This record gives sequence, C-alpha cells and structure tokens, in this order.
Amino acid sequence: MKINVISTERTHANIIRQMLLEGNPQRQITLLDGGLELLTEGFDTNIPDLIIIDGICPGEEEFKTLEQLSLQQPGLAIVLLCKEPSSDFLLNMMRVGVKDVLPLPLVPAALQATVTRIEQKSTLTTSSRKHGKTIAFIACKGGSGATFIATNLAYILAADQISHVALLDLNLQFGDASLFISDQIPSNTLADVAENITRLDASFLTSSMLHVLPNLGVLASPEDPENAIEIKPKHVEALLNLAKIEYDYIVLDIGRALNATSVMALDHADMIFLVLQETLPFIRDAKRLLHALQALGYSKDKIHLIVNRYEKGGEIQLEDVERTLGMKVFRTIPNSYAAVSASVNQGIPIIKIAQRDPVTKCLLEIAYTMGNTVQPKNGGWFSHLLHH
Ligand SMILES: Nc1ncnc2c1ncn2[C@@H]1O[C@H](COP(=O)(O)OP(=O)(O)OP(=O)(O)O)[C@@H](O)[C@H]1O
Ligand SMILES: [Mg+2]
Repeated sequence: MKINVISTERTHANIIRQMLLEGNPQRQITLLDGGLELLTEGFDTNIPDLIIIDGICPGEEEFKTLEQLSLQQPGLAIVLLCKEPSSDFLLNMMRVGVKDVLPLPLVPAALQATVTRIEQKSTLTTSSRKHGKTIAFIACKGGSGATFIATNLAYILAADQISHVALLDLNLQFGDASLFISDQIPSNTLADVAENITRLDASFLTSSMLHVLPNLGVLASPEDPENAIEIKPKHVEALLNLAKIEYDYIVLDIGRALNATSVMALDHADMIFLVLQETLPFIRDAKRLLHALQALGYSKDKIHLIVNRYEKGGEIQLEDVERTLGMKVFRTIPNSYAAVSASVNQGIPIIKIAQRDPVTKCLLEIAYTMGNTVQPKNGGWFSHLLHH
C-alpha cells in the first residue's frame, strides 16, 4: 500500500515511518514536510492509498479541501493524528470522509490496527468492486416502512466509510427517499440522468447524486411526477449496469408499483425485500405481490420478507404470516414510534439520533448479514462516535 505522511515535524514523521514499516515492510511510504497544501502532492503521477496527516488539525477551509479530495478520490483513505480531538471535530471529520482520528501521543498498536484495517478493506473492496450487491425494497402497501428501511440501511452500509453505496429512488411517482436521511434538496434527479442518458458515466452519475456521506450517493426520484413518464426501463438498466461497477452496494427503493421499469430493476437485484406489517391488509397484499413475483420468474431464495413495526404478542402470530405466505420471515423490525418519527421528521438517519434503539440494532444486524462490518463495538472511529 502507498502511504503519504504529511507532517511539519520531520523527526516525528520518521518515527511514524518506522512504525509503519515494522507493521509491514512492503508499505511504500513518502514523507512530505509541510501543511495541508501538500494534500494532493504528487497526485498527477502516483495517487496514494492512504494519507496520514500528523499533528495538523484542519480548520473550516481545510475541511472543504478534505471533502473535495475524498469525493474526487473515493478509494483514498485519510487518517488524522491529532491532540485531544473533540466529538464535534470527530463528527466534522466523518462528514468529510476522514477514516480515523488517532490521538497524539501516538500509540503504535493503534496506528498499526488502523492501517491494517484500511489495507484489508481496500483489498476487499477492490476485489468486490465489479460485483456491487443490488438490494431492492418493495412496500407491500403504502406506509409499510420500505423507504425508511432502505434509506437507513444504505446509510449504515456506508458508515464503515469504506463501502461505496448508491441509493437509487425508483419510486418514480412519489419518491421521497432522500428526505429520510438528508435535509438538502437534491439539485438533480433520475429524470436528469434519463434525459442525458448518452452522457452517463461514473462522474456524471456521481455529480447527479446528493452526497449524504462522501461514500453514500442518493439519486433522487423526479420532483414532478410528470417527469417520471420519461424514465424508461432502458434508462434504469444503463444506470444499474454502471452502478454495479462503481459501487459495492446499490440500494433500490422500488415503492409499490410493479411495472416495466421496476421489473427491470428487480431483474438486476440480488436480494428483493418485501416489507409488510402484521395486519391482514398487509398480509393480503404481500400474498398478491409474492404471487406476481413468482409469476415473473423470481426464485424464492431471492425474495425475503421483513415484518416491520413488529410487536410481540400481537393478534396475528409470526407463524400465521409464514403459513399464509408460504415462506419464512427473514427479519422482524420492532415498532419504535418515537425514535423512528424523530428520525423521519428531521431527515436524520436513525443511527445518528437513536444509536441504542432496537430498530437501529436490527438495521445494523441486517447490514452485517450483507457482509458489512460496521458494528457498534467493533473499534474503528464510527463506533467511537456512537459512544459520544
Ligand atoms: N419500525 C418502525 N417503527 C415505528 N414507525 C415506523 C417504523 N417503520 C416505519 N415507520 C413509520 O412509518 C412511516 C411510513 O414509512 P415509509 O414512508 O418508509 O413507508 P413506505 O413503505 O415507503 O410507504 P410508501 O409506499 O408510501 O412509499 C414512516 O414515516 C415512519 O414514521
Ligand atoms: Mg416509500
């Protein structure tokens, strides 16, 4: 792995180099004397995999440079070594895509663990990059929670700061996915991508997305339902083919409609989640939807049931649902009115405002079954944030 160390103190930079080489003599280390103006030093010939910034705490302006850099170089990891970082500072760092902040004086084992983790994940992501996992969510009925689950899961999948996640709102008529995890208005939507489909490439796709995290892009559905008519299955197909190459996870909010466009998206999905609740109207519609999906030729092992807002001891038992629908429930997600409403009303992901809520815990577990390694107690600095 290629590592640049930016430091104003040459002696300390040398100590860091020594520590890095002791961990793995194969590491190619370049020491750069100076401040953050050196961030992109040497990039035209040789982009590093990791930049370690020693003892320089970025200010307002430099945050922007860091953010810009991690957007332009999604494969690049940045680690800061800082005296007594505050939790506000950590939050700001997370927003701009810094992978880890280690306190000074530097503990060799902590540096080693962080760099090794980045090395392992970067090999994992590069080898899996070309086969992004496509995960689709369909609501069996309005209000089932499909959008809430899809958006928050996408956020959690990206919280490892390594996985590149695309959330595509394919609920073309009434999409609202971006609002669940962001208060920003998307400047472009799927309609703009469809309209300029001949220009579609990785950078056009990135620039059409709203970036909720540097490694989480949301492609919003059109504001005006009329524009949705122009979005054709061939547009969605081109989009998904590209997204699979560029992202590790592609999360799709399909909404409720089964039509040519949504079926095209489902054809690309590795996993299809049907979201329902434990009342008869939901179960009836789930049954219809399951029949339709099977008639379309999707195999049962691609389809998974999520029972949302589940409460133990309700009138209808989980076994009744399973018997009626002829398949096991993949997961239940508890009902948690206060935490979910707060998250949805403010457009803030639930993991940020209710870290210990049972719903958050369930979503973390689902992410984990998808091969994602963010766990609240797993070290790494996202978990660090959770405890503030
Ligand atoms: N586990 C939960 N506990 C409590 N409330 C929940 C839970 N999941 C979702 N909700 C509530 O249900 C509402 C509807 O959820 P959401 O918009 O995700 O449904 P949907 O299936 O996408 O509906 P639509 O078909 O209209 O798009 C949310 O605004 C949220 O307040
Ligand atoms: Mg929805």
